Amino acid sequence: MARIDQVADGIYRISAFTPQKRLSFNQFLIDDERPALVHTGTYPMYDEVRAAIAQVLDPTRLAYVIVPHFEADECGGMGRFVAEAPGAVLVCSAVGARINLSQWDYTGAVHGVQDGDVVDLGRHHLRFLETPHVHHWDSLMAFEEATCSLFPADLFLQPDDQPPVVRENLGAAMCAWYRMAGIFAAEGPVRRVVDRLEPLAPAMVHPMHGGSVPAEATPHYVAALREEAFGFDGRLFGRQLPE
Ligand SMILES: [Fe+2]
Ligand SMILES: [Fe+2]
Repeated sequence: MARIDQVADGIYRISAFTPQKRLSFNQFLIDDERPALVHTGTYPMYDEVRAAIAQVLDPTRLAYVIVPHFEADECGGMGRFVAEAPGAVLVCSAVGARINLSQWDYTGAVHGVQDGDVVDLGRHHLRFLETPHVHHWDSLMAFEEATCSLFPADLFLQPDDQPPVVRENLGAAMCAWYRMAGIFAAEGPVRRVVDRLEPLAPAMVHPMHGGSVPAEATPHYVAALREEAFGFDGRLFGRQLPE
């Protein structure tokens, strides 16, 4: 069963740990006039994510389902969440809408956003950043302005079972996991985005895997991303490919 914790004003972290993968899978619910779910979890996770949402609000009220890139853990539940909530709109990057949602069997409403676009939830406002190649072509991040919360999807990840809020420096473990898994082609596009994120001075960063990182701890992770090697080195989930 997923646990649910309030990690910022009106923002809930719904987290399920998978020991075999040594990763938690976190979705974020923003409770507002127009509620939003930031990533959905995989298709099989739908029931436990929905049950956690229902502790806070009626899931049929969801107005936005935010998909930061198209992988099963970020979008596997999107079809059912959008189908169940009559007013729900799927929000992804403009590139994602073009390359992943056209000429496909998804039939719900889609809003493709570009850098700087804002979605108004009521008290909360999500401002989007296009972050291509961190770690997909269509990647997107969201910055919630009322709480200064950054939703960076898979950036700022920490492996293993973490508490809802992490103050520890796990920057080296983050980079080692990225290298082992091979999710970033290279450091360059990531460091370009890190340079854009730092001036936003987020009060808290809410990664999809691991715990949420408050402002006093984010410099550890920023430094690791700037200084350590984490780009693809020939391994995919630890499996070495032929030279
Ligand atoms: Fe991902
Ligand atoms: Fe993910």
